[in-house]
Amino acid sequence: MIWAVAVSIVLAGLCVWLFSELQRAKQHSEIRAEKLRDSAKSLAADAAIYKQELNVLSQSSGAGILMLDKAGVVVHANAAAERMLNAGPDGLVKKSLIQATFSAELVQFVLNTGQGPESYDFQIGGGQGPILRASKYRFSIGLSGEPETMLVLVNVTELRRLETVRRDFVGNVSHELRTPLTSIRAIAETLQDGAIDDADVVQRFLSTIVQETDRLARISSDLLTLSDAESKEPEKSYFDFIELLEEVVERFKPHAADSGLSLTLETSGPLQLLASRDQVEQVVVNMVSNATKYTQAGGKIIVRACQQDGSIVLEVIDTGIGIMHEHLPRLFERFYRVDKARSRSSGGTGLGLSIVKHIVESHGGEIRVASEYNHGSTFTVIWPASTQAVS
Ligand SMILES: Nc1ncnc2c1ncn2[C@@H]1O[C@H](COP(=O)(O)OP(=O)(O)OP(=O)(O)O)[C@@H](O)[C@H]1O
Ligand SMILES: [Mg+2]
Repeated sequence: MIWAVAVSIVLAGLCVWLFSELQRAKQHSEIRAEKLRDSAKSLAADAAIYKQELNVLSQSSGAGILMLDKAGVVVHANAAAERMLNAGPDGLVKKSLIQATFSAELVQFVLNTGQGPESYDFQIGGGQGPILRASKYRFSIGLSGEPETMLVLVNVTELRRLETVRRDFVGNVSHELRTPLTSIRAIAETLQDGAIDDADVVQRFLSTIVQETDRLARISSDLLTLSDAESKEPEKSYFDFIELLEEVVERFKPHAADSGLSLTLETSGPLQLLASRDQVEQVVVNMVSNATKYTQAGGKIIVRACQQDGSIVLEVIDTGIGIMHEHLPRLFERFYRVDKARSRSSGGTGLGLSIVKHIVESHGGEIRVASEYNHGSTFTVIWPASTQAVS
């Protein structure tokens, strides 16, 4: 009996002890759960801030940013990417890459996980639109460890256009240099083969060599002028524009008279320009030189300058051979000549008008041409108000 009471007491004590231990453990785990909930809340708040910051960064980037999931579906697109890819009102998110870009080659580039280029250029709008360069970056975030891809898009249309211009320019220069060099070489070979003994032939050949070397020198000097006009800011100072026009016209008068041309200057002034005097002189010389070169005997050339709506307008008007309409858009390109043979025989390099255009534009001005085939041409330069001296 006593034993039974003792065991009951011990058991009851054990139960009390167990109960109080359980209570303590419960309290403990509740505190831990509370702490974990707090940490989870603060982690979620941090994550939201980071996401917001990432979003602001991505949205403020000038480059287009697309995030793709493993299946190649867009999960994030910044404003620049939506603009570049002409996204509709639904945006790009949840669209597949092909739906977003219409470029199967780009999809292939993204799918290619092996060694290969990390960027790819593609054109949107069916070969007519801008050219975009896509660079891909792979990474995996989150617990799943699933790989994701970030595509950074940059508009390289202008870059590609400049590359083409540079390539064409190098090609044109080589071609222009090759012609006189080939001629000089042919002469040297003919002389080597025995022509050197014929005094008449030697004389003729020597004058051709002089002409061709002059031509090489002209090409080189025009290229330098062009490169200066392109790369340097004009060194501006105030000068009397009418005085400059008078100087140039006087210089051309004897040549014009020899060619049976009347050359007159019409100005209403005073006209003060704030510009690079040397460069403006080059512009006037090139324009008047063309007018004298491309006008037949008996023709008229008028150099006219006046003020119009705050700008100074220069016109070189001739009654010469004129230019067919289809040539006008390309006239200011380097080495472009309507009649190559005629321009060459008169010593032209085809760089004169491109030099004019560069100089005028580097002063913030504008050049225009109006021409009627067989009737004549008018080249107009508008020097903006900012190039005028304030009196
Ligand atoms: N006043 C003009 N009348 C008719 N055609 C012209 C006139 N001015 C220019 N052109 C055409 O435009 C082309 C380009 O002119 P540009 O001055 O650039 O070269 P160029 O006169 O041939 O050689 P240069 O570099 O020695 O001036 C000329 O070859 C000519 O066909
Ligand atoms: Mg010319």
